[in-house]
Amino acid sequence: MTKILVVGSSGLLGSWFSEEATKLKSKLNWTIKTVSKSHIADYQGDFSDWTFANSCMQEFKPAIIINLVALTDVDRCEREPHEAYQLHMGVPENISRYMQTEKNCWALQISTDQVYDGEGYKKEENVSIKNIYSLSKRAGEMALPADRTVVLRTNFFGRSVSGHRKSFTDWAYGAFLSNERITLFSDSIFNPLHGRTVAKMMCEVIQNPRFGIFNLGSHEGLSKADFVIYFAKLVGVHKEIYTVSKSVSVPDRARRPLNMLMDVSKFETTYNLPLPSLKEEINKTKDEYHV
Ligand SMILES: NC(=O)c1ccc[n+]([C@@H]2O[C@H](COP(=O)([O-])OP(=O)(O)OC[C@H]3O[C@@H](n4cnc5c(N)ncnc54)[C@H](OP(=O)(O)O)[C@@H]3O)[C@@H](O)[C@H]2O)c1
Repeated sequence: MTKILVVGSSGLLGSWFSEEATKLKSKLNWTIKTVSKSHIADYQGDFSDWTFANSCMQEFKPAIIINLVALTDVDRCEREPHEAYQLHMGVPENISRYMQTEKNCWALQISTDQVYDGEGYKKEENVSIKNIYSLSKRAGEMALPADRTVVLRTNFFGRSVSGHRKSFTDWAYGAFLSNERITLFSDSIFNPLHGRTVAKMMCEVIQNPRFGIFNLGSHEGLSKADFVIYFAKLVGVHKEIYTVSKSVSVPDRARRPLNMLMDVSKFETTYNLPLPSLKEEINKTKDEYHV
């Protein structure tokens, strides 16, 4: 039996992971326990608090700890840096502290494509930090023991199954349905995956961990403007409710990276798992959104 503790299980990615892991857990003999702060889970509380975190880990004695905790509101991280560090570093620090005594335990840390900026598809070492969100996420990666941690830097979309967290495509779909005027950015470029694909890849990693930092994204990335227009046409809600603009022109918000494209070849070769193109991934949303 492999005991897996999922911290941040009730969020966007945690809900996709839960669905994928449920399909596999009896076949692979996984026992999964979950942690969330304000939603129902096996353990409910603040995992950045050592007393709570330690009591969960000591009771369950996990062999694998998956960390999905995040404050993904980039502007709030900039306004509340203490909170951002408390979560993005405090949770990995607590996991790391437990791993110091439990030498057979390893961690799967989910990180972000926001640690990149600049031309082209970036390799894992080409980090370029632009804001508190990405700095605190990078610090969280470094708080875990490198020889027993898999870090997956990723981004994702798709119809949320979490019940309380909306994805990027949920936001776009809602805007088209309600005729809300939106601004789409032509200078913000990324190569995310469908959240379900990220969850499937997490399940692959659990079965055959190779420690290190890996980019996990799609091929042939798009600007956020081209992404939303392609998605809206695909799901049949496209109409001219949007303005295409540059993200650098928006005042009063945290600085953001513009080009988050990730080179995913290290993950593909190490895990021997080919990754799809971004349009193939967007095509998976066609049956998820119905007008
Ligand atoms: N969302 C994105 O677009 C995106 C893009 C790139 C990378 N990522 C990364 O992907 C990972 C998952 O993100 P997500 O979007 O799934 O996040 P999310 O939806 O905000 O979920 C965060 C989870 O963490 C839990 N949590 C928050 N504070 C906690 C605490 N102090 N103690 C215990 N649990 C706590 C939340 O529980 P409650 O809800 O019960 O409070 C929730 O289950 C993160 O590492 C994030 O950086 C996300």
